Amino acid sequence: MPCGGKGMCGKCRVRVVRGRLPVTPEDKRIFSEAQLAQGWRLACKAVTREAVEIVVPVQEQQGFSALAAEAADEGALSLAADHDYGLAVDIGTTTLAAALVDCTDGKILATATAVNSQRSFGADVVSRIGAACHGKGKALQKAVRRDLTRLMKQLLKDHPGTAARCRQMAIAANTTMLHLLMGWPCDGLGDWPFHPVSLGGKTYRAQEVLGPQSPLADATVTLLPGMSTYVGADITAGIWQCGLASSDDVSLFVDLGTNGEMVLGNKDQRFIASAPAGPALEGGKLTWGTGSVPGAICGVRIERGRAKVRTIDHAVPVGICGTGILEAMAGLVREGLVDETGKLVEPYFHKGFPLASTLDYQRITLSQQDIREIQMAKSAIRAGIESLIERSGISRQRVHQVFLAGGFGYYLDPQKAAVIGLLPADLAERTTAVGNTSLKGAIGLLTGAVTLEELQAIAAGVEEIVLGNDEAFQRLYIDYLNF
Ligand code: FES
Repeated sequence: MPCGGKGMCGKCRVRVVRGRLPVTPEDKRIFSEAQLAQGWRLACKAVTREAVEIVVPVQEQQGFSALAAEAADEGALSLAADHDYGLAVDIGTTTLAAALVDCTDGKILATATAVNSQRSFGADVVSRIGAACHGKGKALQKAVRRDLTRLMKQLLKDHPGTAARCRQMAIAANTTMLHLLMGWPCDGLGDWPFHPVSLGGKTYRAQEVLGPQSPLADATVTLLPGMSTYVGADITAGIWQCGLASSDDVSLFVDLGTNGEMVLGNKDQRFIASAPAGPALEGGKLTWGTGSVPGAICGVRIERGRAKVRTIDHAVPVGICGTGILEAMAGLVREGLVDETGKLVEPYFHKGFPLASTLDYQRITLSQQDIREIQMAKSAIRAGIESLIERSGISRQRVHQVFLAGGFGYYLDPQKAAVIGLLPADLAERTTAVGNTSLKGAIGLLTGAVTLEELQAIAAGVEEIVLGNDEAFQRLYIDYLNF
């Protein structure tokens, strides 16, 4: 339920092939008459009164690509009798990543990733907060504990002998994920002024965090410290990992997701902000948007008005994921197929721009409405970056480099991001993808590369620029809607 089951996103579509599912008002809003006649319905609004048989299209749950960290070469691994081991975890809103670490010599023994099964309660933090505030908090906690336990068991089972000597765990996550994991009330997270129960930065017994089923009985679990309700411990970890807080050079750190979290500064001063981009850049809300699943269009070249696409695993196209969306938009802009206001030229304005066909000959298109969603998302990120630079008083010429964190940032071509105005053109060539810095921060804590006190000092030494009610942000947001 990417939209939390509100009947808004159309992502829970299923097709009835036998039996009857009554058409709901939400079905009528999302589907055409022809699609309704073919049996398409929104699963989140459907109430079955008889046995029905449905077809579920390829779902995001089938395989999200998640970034972990480089593990040591399998052949080189042997457990040292006097070494301690630990588990580092990044709990992302979409995916989880974990690493089994030799805390004594700093080696990463193995990594594993999984989809965050809280996704069935909503794709972004806002819908999860909504679900938690409406009585689903326990279920959300149970879901993430189950995911974590499964990941941990997998890593420990693959490396016999580590479980008994695994005494520490470090978890980096955004503030909402920490609340849901710990079962803290989420009422203070939804509305300004925010009142989080805690931003992390403490150590607990494993059972307090993972519940009575914890695979580690005698371990301690440290939650890395966050900075604010919307710039959490995952970003603190990123600041440390990129060396932003220890360098004279000014850097910009951006984690692109449904919220674009960003940090600007150096060892002397740091400013943080969070821009509400929404899920469009990751495929959420788009007619054919999907996660990074086999068949997702991940590359698009548009030449003489025609699209040539590349899909994940070279599978038959099933939808379009984040990088494909960005490349398609960059192509449309370059070829003049959308004007600077984002309007598709005819005949695509009404029919959408065709990218590919599915196995059953449905046209995968980027519609005018999709382009509006993309415009709003990229504008929120760009306006966030520009507001941060403007409000910090740091001249943009001093920005030495840009670190792009997270899965989407890893695969994104900064030059194409600049074509659509997601990143400033003058900073695109100074941009480096840094991967899962949240997990790397948790690993750093386990291996002693950074201490909890150092992370706390990083988290405390920031000034937050709240964009939600900032006039400059609103103005820039309107400006950057255009291409
Ligand atoms: S429309 Fe059903 S989950 Fe969004």
